[in-house]
Amino acid sequence: MRVFVTGASGWIGSAVVPELIDAGHQVTGLARSGASAAALAAAGARVHRGTIDDLDSLRAAAAASDGVIHLAFKHDIAFAGDFQGATDADRRAVETFGDVLAGSGRPFVIASGVLGLAPGRVATERDGRSPDPAAAHPGGGPQTRLATAQLTLSLASRDVRSSVLRLPPTVHGEGDHGFMAALVGIARDKGVSGYIGDGASRWPAVHRFDAAHLFCLALEQAPAGSALHAIADEGVPIRAIAEVIGRHLDLPVAAVAPKDAAGHFGWLAPLLALDAPASSALTRELLGWQPVQPGLIDDLDKGHYFHSPPA
Ligand SMILES: NC(=O)c1ccc[n+]([C@@H]2O[C@H](COP(=O)([O-])OP(=O)(O)OC[C@H]3O[C@@H](n4cnc5c(N)ncnc54)[C@H](OP(=O)(O)O)[C@@H]3O)[C@@H](O)[C@H]2O)c1
Repeated sequence: MRVFVTGASGWIGSAVVPELIDAGHQVTGLARSGASAAALAAAGARVHRGTIDDLDSLRAAAAASDGVIHLAFKHDIAFAGDFQGATDADRRAVETFGDVLAGSGRPFVIASGVLGLAPGRVATERDGRSPDPAAAHPGGGPQTRLATAQLTLSLASRDVRSSVLRLPPTVHGEGDHGFMAALVGIARDKGVSGYIGDGASRWPAVHRFDAAHLFCLALEQAPAGSALHAIADEGVPIRAIAEVIGRHLDLPVAAVAPKDAAGHFGWLAPLLALDAPASSALTRELLGWQPVQPGLIDDLDKGHYFHSPPA
């Protein structure tokens, strides 16, 4: 297939692109900078210059493709406080792709997340599917990423082979600058590897190469309207994560009282407090996906998260 990939230069995209090329697909990646364009070209992809705000440009690239994988997200503005702006831009891009692909039966895969889907119990692919009024009435309220995912699933009724690939909060691996790297950084700064309360909150996890393989399978095989879970570890207790970080940094491991969590963990505190286990049993059955990379604790134990302090 000729596949158009947004976010192709990102943490997950840079694993998805070689996975697609190795599977025999021809990849065109969206690049908003010279550096991203160069990285894509070096990986063997074609380059489509533009941003996710250039809707005409997205339209043209999608029209020239046999399928679209949408991974771009404005994390830069989201982490600077404008999460709504990032979500709105994402929604517009998804609407644009939906309009182009409608009636074609072509695949359209987006990245989403499992956090908050089913707090306190194991989330499955069946959760988060019921239509949200905000998804049904764009402009009728603040958009959420869940509403954008629901819109994507609903494109099945417009003859788009759409699927939503839900990622766990940590997509780990060598070179990760995400939540695990942030936790390691906080432990270094504070001189203690902490966990909130009893540390029993669980986070699911996946290695980025296993996630990349699932994006490829979704593109090739997922039936229209599929919610898929890229979950390898169903739920790793935050305390177990703190323990392995403490061992590698030779720091004490200690509980942080919930009232002190924001002061200790900053913006990560509310996320770390979430108990968010998730299953991928239905995804494995549907697509024959089987994670083969190290789980989160084994990956942390390999040591690459601790080699040098972040710049
Ligand atoms: N990593 C995780 O643990 C995780 C967990 C759950 C969900 N997700 C979701 O999975 C998707 C991919 O995540 P990631 O970790 O690979 O993110 P990432 O490393 O931050 O990469 C984001 C990608 O989006 C591109 N991008 C950002 N703003 C853009 C814009 N205005 N126009 C065009 N491209 C733009 C970036 O381009 P540049 O390379 O030029 O910056 C980059 O290729 C996102 O939707 C993310 O929210 C990730």
